[in-house]
Amino acid sequence: MATFINEPAHTFNEYLLIPGYSSSECVPANVTLKTPLVKYKKGEESAITMNIPLVSAIMQAVSGDRLAVALATQGGVSFIYGSQSVEDEAAMVRRAKSYKAGFVQSDSNIRPDATLADVIELTQRTGHSTLAVTEGGEPDGKLLGVVTSRDYRISRMDKSEKVESFMTPFDKLIYAYEGATLSECNDIIWDHKLNSLPVISKDGRMRYFVFRKDYDSHKKNPDELLDEHKRYVVGAGINTRDYAERVPALIEAGADVLCIDSSEGFSEWQKLTIDWIRENYGDSVKVGAGNVVDAEGFRYLADCGADFIKVGIGGGSICITRETKGIGRGQATALIEVCAERDKYFEETGVYIPVCSDGGIVYDHHITLALAMGADFIMLGRYFARFDESPSNKVSINGTYYKEYWGEGSQRARNWQRYDLGGDKKLSFEEGVDSLVPYAGPLKDNVALSLSKVKSTMCNCGALTIRELQQKAKLTLVSATSIVEGGAHDVIQKDKSSAMK
Ligand code: IMP
Repeated sequence: MATFINEPAHTFNEYLLIPGYSSSECVPANVTLKTPLVKYKKGEESAITMNIPLVSAIMQAVSGDRLAVALATQGGVSFIYGSQSVEDEAAMVRRAKSYKAGFVQSDSNIRPDATLADVIELTQRTGHSTLAVTEGGEPDGKLLGVVTSRDYRISRMDKSEKVESFMTPFDKLIYAYEGATLSECNDIIWDHKLNSLPVISKDGRMRYFVFRKDYDSHKKNPDELLDEHKRYVVGAGINTRDYAERVPALIEAGADVLCIDSSEGFSEWQKLTIDWIRENYGDSVKVGAGNVVDAEGFRYLADCGADFIKVGIGGGSICITRETKGIGRGQATALIEVCAERDKYFEETGVYIPVCSDGGIVYDHHITLALAMGADFIMLGRYFARFDESPSNKVSINGTYYKEYWGEGSQRARNWQRYDLGGDKKLSFEEGVDSLVPYAGPLKDNVALSLSKVKSTMCNCGALTIRELQQKAKLTLVSATSIVEGGAHDVIQKDKSSAMK
């Protein structure tokens, strides 16, 4: 006979935290959000500790190299999406790893025979006012000059005038050679009162710009997450099919951590994937597995040797798995059960395997609830898709801006490996939708605001660390009517435009 669990599974929205005693030491400035990303033995430290408990979802609409850099700058980790060719994914990882804070790869480049009209079009399209003039207009072409808004006057000049006639030519430029440090470049910028400094290779090819405004990037981002070579920490998604080609390419490109991206992780496919990695790389390659929603699933992946384990089936904002296949579990209940098993496993073996709560975060306080329920970090898709740095298009509808956001199981992504059970290789039914989410601006501002709320709630619970929150948190289930009581009620609200509370 089948097993019946007669208690309903709950979601984050059905829980509240009850404040605990907070001493005068309990102020947000004293809170640390450091958290382990990969497993470690009792008394040791995790090989990768994040400075904030957020990772971005392994999705086409979320985790490209730009978002990876922006999130690592704030202390978290992106998992570059695996539903692209091995070469393209490795190239994204390589770009994120080769990004040096303060050194910006020029993405606004133009040929010397282009016209002023082309310059205007390019600056409007990219939003950049400093253009590198290279031989063929490529980002790494031979540098011939630079055009900034100080080089032309739209009202006085003919739009057909050629770039070479008004650019600042190479022999009048001040530049640095590749290899110069950020602080050396900044000295040149200050000494010559420049706004930007091109950095070129020994044979005169364009490499980067250093901008005056970026000179204190490190000071502005104290939580940035760097590897031992001072490069940003970057993760990458893999699947349970082409790992023998994908894993070596991603490791070679510099990925710090991998994650098996699958809608259902309690399967032998995950074991085969982890076994292959251990046979070929031992423990030097870190790999997360999932997704599971109960203690048994956790145990299985823990015994397979996963470095972290992801929880969540069917709770994602774009997910229709529960409707299509009738599988899944309320995210809060799944998380609480898995975290209890993680603690039991730790007691038995002395190995702590971090748990990631994946999907279903709607409000910022859901992040705090997930941490309180035992998650070590949270994976978010919709949340990050809304930002400037996500790879998806920004569209304007009736004067309001949105970003596109589509599920990996939608026809648009066609990520068949994620849902593959070894049958016909084509995606025969959808498990995700194609959608729009309200555009929310830059990642940095949003993450800072969300985490300031998390820290503030942690103080209300008397916790200065995530571990302390997990030990001290008192969580209560709420009734349907008390959820109504929790929102603004019995008043006529003047402005209801805010999407995230
Ligand atoms: P969100 O943060 O609620 O938007 O959920 C993101 C998570 O949903 C991802 O990290 C995946 O685990 C999951 N996901 C991504 N695409 C799909 C899909 O097409 N169907 C079901 N789940 C998906």
